[in-house]
Amino acid sequence: MPPRAIASGLMKSVVATTYGGPEVLRIVDAPTPVAGEGQVLVRVAASSVNPLDWHELRGTPYVVRMMRGLRAPKSSGHAMGSDVAGVVESVGPGVTRFTAGDEVLGFGSGAWSEHMVVGEAGLVLKPKNLSMTDAGGVGVAAITALQGLRRGGQVSPVTWGPGEVEPMRPRVLIIGASGGVGTFAVQIAKLLGAHVTAVTSTRNLELVARLGADDVVDYTTTEVTEGRPRFDLVFELAGNRRLRDLARILTPSGSLIACGAPSGQWIAPLAAPAGLAITSRFSKRTYTSFLAKRDIDDLQQLADWLGTGALRVVVDDVYPLERIADAVAHSESGHVRGKVIVTM
Ligand SMILES: NC(=O)c1ccc[n+]([C@@H]2O[C@H](COP(=O)([O-])OP(=O)(O)OC[C@H]3O[C@@H](n4cnc5c(N)ncnc54)[C@H](OP(=O)(O)O)[C@@H]3O)[C@@H](O)[C@H]2O)c1
Repeated sequence: MPPRAIASGLMKSVVATTYGGPEVLRIVDAPTPVAGEGQVLVRVAASSVNPLDWHELRGTPYVVRMMRGLRAPKSSGHAMGSDVAGVVESVGPGVTRFTAGDEVLGFGSGAWSEHMVVGEAGLVLKPKNLSMTDAGGVGVAAITALQGLRRGGQVSPVTWGPGEVEPMRPRVLIIGASGGVGTFAVQIAKLLGAHVTAVTSTRNLELVARLGADDVVDYTTTEVTEGRPRFDLVFELAGNRRLRDLARILTPSGSLIACGAPSGQWIAPLAAPAGLAITSRFSKRTYTSFLAKRDIDDLQQLADWLGTGALRVVVDDVYPLERIADAVAHSESGHVRGKVIVTM
């Protein structure tokens, strides 16, 4: 958690003092934080729910508890929420990129609050044309989509021989294309020049086609892991397919980026990354599990695309802060279309 310096008043903030489902969330009056060195105090206008948030809330997989506390979250009243869109209220010493009144977006810790402090590197200026509501859905999901696709290494030009650079138009498969990460990934893969196949359920086929997918696959009727090797990059966001099935549809030098968390509280979430590391030793294909990280250039790239309208935020539903438990339950359903937004 970012340091919470001297309080300058009270604000509404969502906390959880015990592990559990949405029912353990409490809205409390908490001290309004003050921006410390290199930090920005943001008046939060909107945030969103990411699976990361409810994994933290439930303390699952259990490895989460090694960091957050074994029996209960360590800090009494862990402030929840990551994505933020809002207005800069004040800046701490050493902050050069923002001044009071700037509209910003990004992510940090404690965003389901009326105010939060964010390290300067976690924010960029919000494009003027983007509403606060939409901006609240960008953070973690959009950066995961961008970094996952880039880490696949297949969407940028590839050098074929000495001095010869051929723009590659690879075939990218996105599984879980209609969710928070997936709706950004479909659009970004197109912006990066890929041919995109999107896997989703029947009701979302039209949505992913509208976002730019060249081919759509309905997972309720068709198993995408059948058939010949045909994808240069598989971006896996659903977490419910076997690695060896996914490997079968990769071209000989293709990449699998596994982002979706397999279900299970103990073994599965840990076994998947371990399996990835072992398999990749015996094949030209690459298998990578992956954790998105804060990167100011990536955040700026996303803001630039959002500013020109090349990238847009798909909003499933908007909940006021008072209905945070409903918002989290909606996200936990596993069938979100785009982003679940929370407004302050
Ligand atoms: N490693 C990281 O840094 C990182 C960062 C962000 C997210 N993640 C992980 O990435 C995953 C996706 O995140 P998200 O925010 O996009 O989740 P989300 O918004 O909840 O979306 C989940 C999507 O999965 C789809 N889905 C469910 N079952 C499916 C199946 N059998 N085949 C294909 N699609 C299926 C759903 O579509 P339908 O409604 O059509 O079923 C839904 O749109 C999560 O596991 C999350 O924990 C990891």
